[in-house]
Amino acid sequence: MTIPKIAIFTDDAGWHGKQLQHAFKNLGYDSVFVSLTECRFNLKDQALPLFIPEFETELPIAVFVRGVPGGSLEEVVLYLDFLHALKIMGIPVYNNASAIERSVDKAMTSFLLHHAGLETPSTWVLRDRNTALDVVKNELSQGHFVISKPLFGSQGEGIRRIEKMTDLPWLTSSHGVYYLQHFVLCAGEGFSDYRVFVINNKVVATMRRRGKSWLNNVAKGATCERIEPTVEMIALAIQATKLLNMDYAGVDILEDSTGKLNVIEINSVPAWKGLESVCDITIAELLAQDLVNRYLT
Ligand SMILES: Nc1ncnc2c1ncn2[C@@H]1O[C@H](COP(=O)(O)OP(=O)(O)O)[C@@H](O)[C@H]1O
Ligand SMILES: [Mg+2]
Repeated sequence: MTIPKIAIFTDDAGWHGKQLQHAFKNLGYDSVFVSLTECRFNLKDQALPLFIPEFETELPIAVFVRGVPGGSLEEVVLYLDFLHALKIMGIPVYNNASAIERSVDKAMTSFLLHHAGLETPSTWVLRDRNTALDVVKNELSQGHFVISKPLFGSQGEGIRRIEKMTDLPWLTSSHGVYYLQHFVLCAGEGFSDYRVFVINNKVVATMRRRGKSWLNNVAKGATCERIEPTVEMIALAIQATKLLNMDYAGVDILEDSTGKLNVIEINSVPAWKGLESVCDITIAELLAQDLVNRYLT
């Protein structure tokens, strides 16, 4: 008899993977690392319709999504198909495919935030270069900077700030799409934003990330500082997490110079090493407990 196992989808298990594996082990569950690139549909006769390495005879009892690899649109859609298929077959997927789909796509996140009336910076997403240039010129002429982001980016990669008309030639699309956003000048000295970590609609830890410049990603060298979230910050982070129906989330919140909180991003596959370095909780344990409590017992 095979031992029921949890699949942790990742291409680079690293510190986070090991933390999760350890946390699941403490709860009595074995887990293995698998790459979504190695899965395949096998729709023939009585065979398991989804081939996952290490789960050839029995599908996992749950999957934890620690990473979705990049790739062509077809490749990314296929990885998400695998996650959707698992859910259809009754296997808990943490975070679920729809939540991941909506949050890796910055356009959809921005639309949903705006539609729900949650504070988020003015944003334009479009195809036409001339229209993109007009948007940026208009913002610049009103004294605002504009941020340009890749639609599927993360960890601050590929984000640019357009500050003056002479920057316009450098405005580039990301695979044909311009994602442009009003640059929000943050409150306080220097540059910082907040990362609020939510599990099962509860805030478990919050930090201020202080960037070397206006990019406050830990991956870009921002320093972490633990803070007590305000009631307003908690409410906004939870609303944002619920909006995308996430089991857990890393919500990026930027406070502007008037004190208004803006949701910048809702991460469905957030890292937590930086956050944990300034908090006295073990986030992997909380995640594993939440998955097990709500989906496996
Ligand atoms: N509209 C904005 N105004 C000011 N700073 C921003 C804005 N959008 C993003 N940033 C800065 O860039 C960082 C990365 O942006 P984000 O949208 O979270 O993309 P990523 O997925 O790469 O983390 C944010 O944490 C923040 O510091
Ligand atoms: Mg971010």
